[in-house]
Amino acid sequence: MNNFKRTLVTTALPYANGPVHIGHLAGVYVPADIYVRYLRLRGRDVLFIGGSDEHGVPVTIRARKEGITTQQVVDRYHELIKSSFERFGISFDIYSRTTSAIHHQFASDYFRKLYEDGKFIEQTTEQFYDPETGHFLTDRNIKGECPRCHAAGAYGDQCEKCGSTLSPDELINPYNAETGNPLQKRPTSHWYLPLDQYQQWLEKWILEEHKEWRPNVYGQCKSWLDGGLRPRAVTRDLDWGIPVPVEGADGKVLYVWFDAPIGYISNTKELCDARPEQFGNWETWWKDSSTRLIHFIGKDNIVFHCIVFPSMLKADGSYILPDNVPSNEFLNLEGDKISTSRNWAVWLNEYLDDFPGKQDVLRYVLTANAPETKDNDFTWADFQARNNNELVAIYGNFVNRALVLTQKYFEGKVPARGELNDYDRATIEEFKNVKTQLEELLENFRFRDAQKEAMNLARIGNKYLADTEPWKLAKTDIARTGTVLNLSLQIAANLATAFEPFLPFSSAKLREMLCMDAANWDTLGSLNLLTEGHALGTVSLLFEKLEDSVIQGQLDRLARIKKENEEKAKEEELKNWHPAAIKTDTTIDEFDKIDIRVATVLDCQPVKKSERLLQFTLDDGVGQRTILSGIAQSYPDPSVLVGKQVLFIANFPPRKMMGIESNGMILSAVNADGKLVVTTVSKDVKNGVQVG
Ligand code: 2FM
Ligand code: ZN
Repeated sequence: MNNFKRTLVTTALPYANGPVHIGHLAGVYVPADIYVRYLRLRGRDVLFIGGSDEHGVPVTIRARKEGITTQQVVDRYHELIKSSFERFGISFDIYSRTTSAIHHQFASDYFRKLYEDGKFIEQTTEQFYDPETGHFLTDRNIKGECPRCHAAGAYGDQCEKCGSTLSPDELINPYNAETGNPLQKRPTSHWYLPLDQYQQWLEKWILEEHKEWRPNVYGQCKSWLDGGLRPRAVTRDLDWGIPVPVEGADGKVLYVWFDAPIGYISNTKELCDARPEQFGNWETWWKDSSTRLIHFIGKDNIVFHCIVFPSMLKADGSYILPDNVPSNEFLNLEGDKISTSRNWAVWLNEYLDDFPGKQDVLRYVLTANAPETKDNDFTWADFQARNNNELVAIYGNFVNRALVLTQKYFEGKVPARGELNDYDRATIEEFKNVKTQLEELLENFRFRDAQKEAMNLARIGNKYLADTEPWKLAKTDIARTGTVLNLSLQIAANLATAFEPFLPFSSAKLREMLCMDAANWDTLGSLNLLTEGHALGTVSLLFEKLEDSVIQGQLDRLARIKKENEEKAKEEELKNWHPAAIKTDTTIDEFDKIDIRVATVLDCQPVKKSERLLQFTLDDGVGQRTILSGIAQSYPDPSVLVGKQVLFIANFPPRKMMGIESNGMILSAVNADGKLVVTTVSKDVKNGVQVG
């Protein structure tokens, strides 16, 4: 660490297909900002790079959904994300975008150099193609029946019903998710980065030389490496992105995960070229081995930042590699996974509008609950509790009492500090190591514990005031009161510095109240930050209590969204019964093989210990027949079916479930509520007659 002369900090470039939410903030931007602010405070040379990821399929899907162009989508969200970050105090040196001309040129040149150096392999594979639109489709744009749970409408990369990871080849009857057109396979050629050739080098570099990486990061890398790396395509058949700069590659663009991390470099270049006197040459930041490169990312980005991007850098050969990749796990919201498409999120821009001036409250809560080692949950109740019981009741209360009492008894001037007693000394002893403790934690990316340490200083101060009771002392011993308040004000001044990386807005406000200059990290822990007689500024509340009604408003919003989502899911289920999902190649002969008949339900009972199964006893015209059917959830009272004539498949081989033999299948249909309804006949027919 100490051999490095400068630190380059990058944050994952968010897709410009929606606003950023608390999951992004907790996972990436708040910890990165704390780290950068801390380094700056220590006087280190640091550069903080951000930007929007404007290529890839998600932005094109959003554009089609909203009926606008992809450029309009990325323009809109880039501006929104950029201004939200600014308002929230994420202190980027540059926040640019991957549709910039500088980036297009840079990424294109990067590809061409590797291409010319023979670093890629070219391969032709069969991909899904929509003959009607004339486009190859990406995994996410293909839908079909899930091969595992047989849900309709599974995506080419994942079934959202059963959670299975899929490849489009596995889907049954794949179709174009946008148009519904059935698909064909066509050959197409692409360039691949042969990651297998980097396997050995990566094993040494990560598994041997970077054992200090967080266990979640190291573990994910190890499992990828243990599984054996394969070549990865770095180009796509798409009409949105950076054109592949090779002759004959019309209609092909760089894969978004190839160009996005290059955005870290091109954004650095954009900044340095614009202000060289301030930031120097971009190559010093990227090619000088005395630069320490740190990538802050979410856990879904680990493979790209630890395996793919380093291999791209290595392929070029002139770049430094990341020294650490602090990646967080995920933050959930009120127990459910945050989801942009389901609107299940607290959006930063909405938070800033709903809670003006309360950036630090969210920063505090997200760090206190940071998913550093495991997934964590954000709840509004916890948000309120941490604000009211910690920021207001401890930090704010302490600072306010120290300042107000100084106004009251010492005309707002720092009183003289007399001789310290044992209790004063014991209090000082408690926080004398705050600087080294904070440094140790922050250097090791342990932001949650570091913030706890800063809050502990406020706790010490608050307890000191509560125990010494200067408001009572003032009646009998004004000199001792002065000593107590002097010490309290020194602690308050230290708090402004200790919290500076975490809660920059509150620290600025506190420094203003204390009439202090900019924070100076080196003085952290000192008892002489404010000299005797120093005049304090106007006192105001550092934090305000959050009322129940405000929190309830947020909970009501989430309840509304949950309801809307449930309704949408039902609609989606019906929509997913897409014609292409129905087999069209069944011949009449095959149909004839299925023996559908009519029977009367004699009895229908839930099967013990099964949530799903109902046991039907049928009169099938010949005798009694038992069939089990997985529709119990749709019939809480199965006796309603007794006496009804139903349709069943008679010639399925017998199957044993829960120890009962089932002979056939009852036919059911899904209704608008998503419930299964047994098909019945409208007029009496003889049991056993065939349907066809
Ligand atoms: O996961 C995402 O949101 C990606 N847009 C992150 C890209 S990080 C980097 F490579 F730019
Ligand atoms: Zn499935």
